[in-house]
Amino acid sequence: MEEDQLFELINHIRTNKIIPLKYAYLGQGAHNWDNFYNRLENTEDIELRCYRLDAHIFLLEKAFSFLDTYLANFDRINIIEIGQGNSKPIFSIVDHFIKSRKLGKYIAIDISSKMLEISKNNFSSRFPNQYFNSHVLDIETSSLQNILFLTEEN
Ligand SMILES: C[S@@+](CC[C@H](N)C(=O)[O-])C[C@H]1O[C@@H](n2cnc3c(N)ncnc32)[C@H](O)[C@@H]1O
Repeated sequence: MEEDQLFELINHIRTNKIIPLKYAYLGQGAHNWDNFYNRLENTEDIELRCYRLDAHIFLLEKAFSFLDTYLANFDRINIIEIGQGNSKPIFSIVDHFIKSRKLGKYIAIDISSKMLEISKNNFSSRFPNQYFNSHVLDIETSSLQNILFLTEEN
């Protein structure tokens, strides 16, 4: 944990008497999320499957034809995923844009360096030839501008 994160945490505990959820993903918390996700992903239990967290991915997959039309005039697209978790939910989308030869960079941005480590391992195992970059950043307190600028430049 960075020094300013520590002060933010102390301030939250003092003032609001809560620990913000975002801190649950640091360190061992990243493994807890990864284990939880993998359990949901692999379960045959119908009740547990109701808690699957990738409804947003399901909707994006439904929108592939719209996205393809919308992006038809672009040779390359970059995916910047904020709070990517273990990156597994987005694999079908990455796969889609690799197959259509459009995907430039995949950039993961997360508050948790451990989560990014897990994400990189998963991503690079699944897509060994695909560019992966990541940044540790708290989206609540930081700006994305320099990352967007550097992504355009390189
Ligand atoms: C519930 S997980 C969701 C992961 C993934 N998006 C999914 O749908 O499975 C939340 C993710 O957001 C990250 N996160 C939470 N608060 C954040 C913040 N303020 N800035 C950057 N990342 C954050 C966590 O570290 C974690 O990787």
